[in-house]
Amino acid sequence: MAQTWTPNSWRQKPIQQVPDYPDLAALDSVEARLAKYPPLVFAGEARRLKSALANVADGRGFLLQGGDCAESFAEHGADTIRDFFRAFLQMAVVLTFGAQQPVVKVGRIAGQFAKPRSSGIEKQGDVSLPSYRGDIINGIEFTEEARVPNPERQVMAYRQSAATLNLLRAFAMGGYANLENVHQWMLGFVKDSPQAERYRKLADRISETMDFMKAIGITAENHPSLRETDFFTSHEALLLGYEQALTRVDSTSGDWYATSGHMIWIGDRTRQPDHAHIEYCRGIKNPLGLKCGPSLTADGLLELIDILNPANEAGRLTLICRFGHDKVAEHLPRLIRAVEREGKKVVWSCDPMHGNTITLNNYKTRPFERILSEVESFFQIHRAEGSHPGGIHIEMTGNDVTECTGGARALSGDDLADRYHTHCDPRLNADQALELAFLLAERMKGGRDEKKMVVNG
Ligand code: TRP
Ligand code: MN
Repeated sequence: MAQTWTPNSWRQKPIQQVPDYPDLAALDSVEARLAKYPPLVFAGEARRLKSALANVADGRGFLLQGGDCAESFAEHGADTIRDFFRAFLQMAVVLTFGAQQPVVKVGRIAGQFAKPRSSGIEKQGDVSLPSYRGDIINGIEFTEEARVPNPERQVMAYRQSAATLNLLRAFAMGGYANLENVHQWMLGFVKDSPQAERYRKLADRISETMDFMKAIGITAENHPSLRETDFFTSHEALLLGYEQALTRVDSTSGDWYATSGHMIWIGDRTRQPDHAHIEYCRGIKNPLGLKCGPSLTADGLLELIDILNPANEAGRLTLICRFGHDKVAEHLPRLIRAVEREGKKVVWSCDPMHGNTITLNNYKTRPFERILSEVESFFQIHRAEGSHPGGIHIEMTGNDVTECTGGARALSGDDLADRYHTHCDPRLNADQALELAFLLAERMKGGRDEKKMVVNG
């Protein structure tokens, strides 16, 4: 791995999950066009995220990362973006209060289009077609025509990402993210929840804190930090031709950055150390995520850490663990012990979605109880190992979909057909996502009280 890196050095390596583009000249021409388009994010922002994540790695913050499994062209619109952001910010407030630490806010949005597939072929009845790989590659309709990879879709994905990011930036900095607004939305959620009694205690304490701040003169008018928030974007860097086209030199540092999003991650299926995805990611300076599933060995992880973060820079690498509620206890401790033993600086994040997918009434779904259970185990294990449970990574939407079962409204298998809209994996709906935040915030507070007892006792 000591060879020189260039934005296209990944092309010399074996690669998984590549679409079969029929017209390679058309692909080249799209990539050449994209290479001239403006960057979506700039290097200074990625550095800012990295330093926020460095605090998380050091135990002084919490990472909230979430959004669609796959963004789609069909659902692109202001309401979808606003509703997502509204749910996400409410989670962030609740978690900030629960953790009593800054929450680093990273969306799976404005670029989350490409999907790895377990099989290249999808079969329906006697018909076999190429699998859907995300709107940036082909269409979801089960027709021969739609499933042909079309490079022009990369340009559409780029433009949708730019428009989405533009609105998110306006929301984050233009007053919509005002803490007072978010607080009111949260109270609305609690009032309407079947679990209102349970959540009210925490909500009341947040309200009291807000009143106290107001009483002593800390307001959104004189404190911009109350009406603005730092929001970052992320996606899986799967389609490397697209990523390469948006890889640019930062004129301040002379370093290469992916400018398709602030943070990018490597999937569990494409993390072979000598393959293309690891090669591409090692050379860019953005914060990186690495998905860690059951097949990752401790030595395999240490090898990847050395490739991706040779300088052991805090904030560079987030390990996004996705084992399953019944497997996390078997796999997480061995990885934590290896990483801690070697003194590697990482953010430990829990993806409680991808290891907990089941099929019910022909729908892919995820039971809320299992999602909650995996996060709870994640917290307990970190507490026992003395490491910092640094964050969560979830698939969610701001819409009222019926894709995951359970939660306060006890969605059942029979409800799934009502509003099952996802283009890929089942997402938590807005209520389920907020419930998860409330339940975690309760646990975080419990954990702090325990620690205090140890210190005082
Ligand atoms: N700027 C602070 C932060 O981002 C406080 C804040 C303002 C906030 N608006 C928010 C926190 C919305 C969460 C959600 O943490
Ligand atoms: Mn997914």
